[in-house]
Amino acid sequence: MNRTDLELFKSILQDDTVHITLGKVERVTVAKDDTSVALECLDVLHGTKVVCTQSWEAVGHRTGSGDLPDVGDILLIVYAGGDLDHAFAIRRLASSEEPLPQQIKDGHYVLKSKVGKKLYLGSDTKVEIGNAESGQECTEPLLLGAVMKSLLSDFMTQVATLSQDVKDLSGVVNDLAGEVNTLATDVSTHQHPTAAPGPPSPPITAAAFVATAAQATQTGNDATSVGSDADGVKTEINNLKASPVEDDTILSDIAFTEKGGG
Ligand SMILES: [Fe+2]
Repeated sequence: MNRTDLELFKSILQDDTVHITLGKVERVTVAKDDTSVALECLDVLHGTKVVCTQSWEAVGHRTGSGDLPDVGDILLIVYAGGDLDHAFAIRRLASSEEPLPQQIKDGHYVLKSKVGKKLYLGSDTKVEIGNAESGQECTEPLLLGAVMKSLLSDFMTQVATLSQDVKDLSGVVNDLAGEVNTLATDVSTHQHPTAAPGPPSPPITAAAFVATAAQATQTGNDATSVGSDADGVKTEINNLKASPVEDDTILSDIAFTEKGGG
């Protein structure tokens, strides 16, 4: 406030017609139809009671900004046209009990709700969080955290399944290596009965060959099972890719930002 403003302010307060005063809130009442707020205050400059209407930073049809004052808050109250029946609280004033946020002292712009109260930033069309300097629209939709979390969880489940498949496949390969080793030994050491007239006879160790063949069949079945499981993982990952990723379910339709940084 410069000197000129201060003199104007003093002259207004000294005017016999009260245009502006200071009030300490004693009661806050929201009208039953939700269209207005009555603030019962003590006029601290004149020692009288005043009931004023809360004014807002912005207000309109299903739009607006601001919050309600608390009991004990000091308000700057104006009387429209000097009419004591038309009192409006136009601003809350800071007090020694309410230190400024450090960010304001550092020169930043701060928009913060009261302790324990939410801050709402809403639009049914688009909320942009960005530089706002260039005039360019923000085109990067924000990720939806809960959808992203669900996607990550599902994806990690599939990666874990795939890891188990790889481990199982390692077991299958080891089994196969053992069977090949057994077969090699059986082949290299097999013997036939003493030669006799007639067609060739099976080797004496035929049972070992048959057993290895049975094991190899089981190993083949295990390999098929691992392959089928891996196919399932591929299907699940493709499903996740289709939704929520490629169908944009993971992205907000309302909140947008930009990369920034030049
Ligand atoms: Fe032989």
